[in-house]
Amino acid sequence: MPGVFEVDHPLIACHLSRLRDKSTSPEEFRALVRRLATLLAYEATQDLDTVETSVETPLTTTPGSKLAPRIGLVPILRAGLGMVDPVLDLIPTAEVWHLGLYRDEETAQPVEYYSKLPPQRPVDVALVVDPMLATGGSVMAALDTLKQWGVGQVKILSIIASEEGIKNVEAQLQDNQFPNAQVYVCKIDPVLNDQKFIVPGLGDAGDRIFHTTG
Ligand code: PRP
Repeated sequence: MPGVFEVDHPLIACHLSRLRDKSTSPEEFRALVRRLATLLAYEATQDLDTVETSVETPLTTTPGSKLAPRIGLVPILRAGLGMVDPVLDLIPTAEVWHLGLYRDEETAQPVEYYSKLPPQRPVDVALVVDPMLATGGSVMAALDTLKQWGVGQVKILSIIASEEGIKNVEAQLQDNQFPNAQVYVCKIDPVLNDQKFIVPGLGDAGDRIFHTTG
């Protein structure tokens, strides 16, 4: 699947195993989400453009570089909040634009409840972060919103996805949205159950991050 990257790395595999474990505490779960978000962001940003700068070291002047594009970090509330700080640590100049979406429990359709994107000045590159991509409905709703804003390029970072959700998102990207968009995931699981939960999955990331019950 072009544009979809399932990152194969031993650190990711080990941290993901702990994340899946139902006995993992909320404290450890949050730490694991941060680590996995860092590793995903490192992979997802490898093709960002840079501009050359000049740096005065204590000894001499040497060429340096800084990021060229204006970068927007777009967490999908709530669970996406768990991935914000680690990505901001890597890209401290990023702007953070929150999108509030929850999945209706009956229909599994996304419902938008918060968006404050300004009418103008879209970012050049949006990094959409959400630990879970199940049906893909939430990510596709976010893509619609970012397209309307006028964002140039989109990278989606999800810790876990389903095969069905990835196919749905890919179809939307190719149809009309962002043909050059990329999706970075730690693992694509095979099954979406009757309740549209990823199996084997990790449960509900938002509930496990914030120590709430569904
Ligand atoms: C979860 C998850 C994604 C969405 C994935 O959020 O964090 O946002 O569901 O499902 P989808 O791909 O089928 O749209 P949820 O609706 O549980 O809200 P929360 O983050 O507030 O827990």
